[in-house]
Amino acid sequence: MTYRVLISDPLSEEGIKPLRETENIEIVKNPGWDETELLENIDQFDALLVRSQTQVTRPLLEKAARLKIVGRAGVGVDNIDLDAATENGIIVVNAPNGNTNSAAEHTVAMIMSLSRNIPQAFHALKQKQWDRKRFVGVELKQKTLGVVGLGRIGAEVAKRAKGQRMNVIAYDPFLTDEKAEQMGIKRGTLEEVLQAGDFITVHTPLLKETRHLINAEAFELMKDGVQIVNCARGGIIDEDALYDAIVSGKVAGAALDVFEQEPFTEHKLLTLPEVVATPHLGASTVEAQEIVAVDVSHDVIRFLEGKAVRHP
Ligand code: NAD
Ligand code: MLT
Repeated sequence: MTYRVLISDPLSEEGIKPLRETENIEIVKNPGWDETELLENIDQFDALLVRSQTQVTRPLLEKAARLKIVGRAGVGVDNIDLDAATENGIIVVNAPNGNTNSAAEHTVAMIMSLSRNIPQAFHALKQKQWDRKRFVGVELKQKTLGVVGLGRIGAEVAKRAKGQRMNVIAYDPFLTDEKAEQMGIKRGTLEEVLQAGDFITVHTPLLKETRHLINAEAFELMKDGVQIVNCARGGIIDEDALYDAIVSGKVAGAALDVFEQEPFTEHKLLTLPEVVATPHLGASTVEAQEIVAVDVSHDVIRFLEGKAVRHP
C-alpha cells in the first residue's frame, strides 16, 4: 500500500528526507492550493504536514476521509482544530523540542533590539540621519526580566537573561520553588511578575485561558516605561490594549514576532516608533526547520508503520 503525504506549508527539504527515503510513501509538496482547493483535494491523503500557515479546520478534517495523521512542524498546535481531529479519529503530532533554541535566541535578539533601539537607529541611518541622542538605550544588567510561561522556551530565555546579568522573575503554574532556586531565578504570581519586570516576555501557548492574558488591567499593574516582548503567539497580548499603553507612555517599547492575524501588510502597532517587529521568524533558522521537519517526518513514518509516535 502506498501512503500519500501532503506537505502544505514550506518545510525543510533536508528535514523531509526520511519521508522521501521511505518506499511506500508518496509526497505532494506545496501544490499551492488555496483553501477551496485544499478542501477539494484533502480526501486523497493519509497524512498532512503543516507549519503555522495552513489552518487545519473542522470542515477540512471532516472532508479528509483517508487522513490518519496531522504533523505540525513546530510547537504550537493552535492552527489545528484538535477536537475535530479527535472526533474524526485523526492523530495530531508536533515537534516540541526542535525550535526551542531558535525561539529563545530570537527572543533575546528582540530584547536587545528594544534595549538599544537597534532597528530604529539602523532605519534612521539608512535615511541618512546620524542621530546619537535619540537612540540612547538602557543596559540589561541589573534590570528585571519578567517571564510569563517558563516552559522550554521561557526557561532558555531565562538562562540567557541571567547571562546578561539580569534578575529574572517568572510565573508558570508548574514552576516550583525548587526549580526556581536551581535556575537562580525568583518565582512569582502573575501579578508579581507584571509588577516587577522592566522587560516582560510571554512564552505560554495560546489557549482559551491565555488569550488576552496581557490586557489593559495587566498593563496597569506594570512599571511605567516597561518593555514588552511577544515571540510566543499573537493573541496572548491584547493588541488594542498594547497600542493604547504605548500611546499613553505606560509602555516604552514592544518587540513582536507574532500577531493576532497573520500574515498582514498593514498593522496599527507598526505605525508606532516604539514597536519593533519581525514576521513570525522565531523558529526560522536552518537548524530549527530541519530538526522540526525530521521530527514530524519520523513520527509520521512510525505511525504509518503501526508504531507508537513520540509527540502526540
Ligand atoms: P512549553 O509547552 O514548553 O511551555 C509553555 C509553558 O507555558 C508551560 O510551562 C505551561 O505551564 C505555561 N503556561 C500555560 N498556561 C499558562 C498561563 N496561563 N500562565 C503562565 N504560564 C502558562 O512550550 P514552548 O516550547 O516553551 O513554547 C511556548 C509557545 O511559544 C508555543 O506554544 C508556541 O506557540 C510559541 N512558539 C513560537 C515560535 C515563533 O516562531 N515565534 C517558535 C516556537 C514556539
Ligand atoms: C511554533 O509554534 O513552533 C512556531 O510558530 C514556529 C513556526 O512554525 O513558525
